[in-house]
Amino acid sequence: MRLDHIGIAVRNLDEAVKFYRDVLGLELVRVEEVPEERVRIAMFRVGEAYIELLEGTDPESAISKFIERRGEGIHHIAIHVDDVDAKTEELKSRGVALVYEKPREVSHGERRINFVHPKSTFGVLLEIMTRVK
Ligand code: CO
Repeated sequence: MRLDHIGIAVRNLDEAVKFYRDVLGLELVRVEEVPEERVRIAMFRVGEAYIELLEGTDPESAISKFIERRGEGIHHIAIHVDDVDAKTEELKSRGVALVYEKPREVSHGERRINFVHPKSTFGVLLEIMTRVK
């Protein structure tokens, strides 16, 4: 396993990108819409890992709701696992609270993801994910 990315919820992705790319000088890898999660994201490479900025695309998006409740800031931490489906089943069998029953495919099948609920992780939303391509 390895740290894949840290997800940061932002109100305005374009403004946030200007800071992370132009002021901090991080390498912007891509900007994409992830309709499955109702977000637009920007990925920046930081060594072996990434920073993921997320903007909700509608008020019902989990990101929009998070910002409404808690303001902008760190939203989740993502750990890459070899097989997110197997990890999901293993954690479920141990009584761990997962957000999705089965991992979801996002980014045109590029990644399969699930989330471990903060109540099981001592307060942090933890994404577990496998890059397929
Ligand atoms: Co993420």
